[in-house]
Amino acid sequence: MRQLIAGNWKMNGLVRSLDEIRAVRERLLAEQPPVDVLLCPPATLIAKAVEAAQGALSIGAQDCHAEASGAFTGDVSAEMLKDAGAAVVIVGHSERRHFHNETSAQVAAKALAARRAGLLAVICIGETEVERDAGSALRTCTDQLRASVPDLATAANTAIAYEPVWAIGSGRTPTNAEIEEIHGHIRDCLARRFGADARAVRILYGGSVKPTNARTILSLDCVDGALVGGASLRAVDFLSIISAVPRH
Ligand code: PGA
Repeated sequence: MRQLIAGNWKMNGLVRSLDEIRAVRERLLAEQPPVDVLLCPPATLIAKAVEAAQGALSIGAQDCHAEASGAFTGDVSAEMLKDAGAAVVIVGHSERRHFHNETSAQVAAKALAARRAGLLAVICIGETEVERDAGSALRTCTDQLRASVPDLATAANTAIAYEPVWAIGSGRTPTNAEIEEIHGHIRDCLARRFGADARAVRILYGGSVKPTNARTILSLDCVDGALVGGASLRAVDFLSIISAVPRH
């Protein structure tokens, strides 16, 4: 399937950062790589980012509230993100799970909100270093997957990002065999639960994807794209990851 290269700017980016999006757009228009490209800036920049992208790449958000509207000071709903021009929302990122104590049940509610609003939900799962060392990475990922993905997930409304917490921002990445094990397992779980509809759900890898390791990771058959944090902030790095997608 066509790979998805997604950038997550996290809490980075000011109006002047839109120049990076313009640079990405220009190169995509010039080179037309066979890849879907997404950038998720902070919510403050979504509307302007959509203007800067001019449809050459998609713009998404990093989180949403489960309710459509109401007395939730400081929160942003999936409907508001859609209204601002977002096409996608990341839910259940490990930084949300960790710093905001989000549970998988809350993540599932957010993924449902995304579907209600017509957004693709990129649902993140992944084990901590302690869990990996204890040999329970597969168990953690299975539990998070089961509880974070709502019923009726299809490729049109859901993508999964496997992001081992210990690989995020650390410069360390799992071995190819470790990625293959977890991605294969995610694929099996989705197939068991959703049948043929789930075959086209993209399974992204995230955690220290860089220009230097992107080719190796993106060449794995089980990897349908990447969720990129730090290396998505500068157009040159992000574009180099986009160019690392194998052309079949
Ligand atoms: P990183 O972040 O690429 O900076 O490791 C990935 C993520 O948190 O999505």
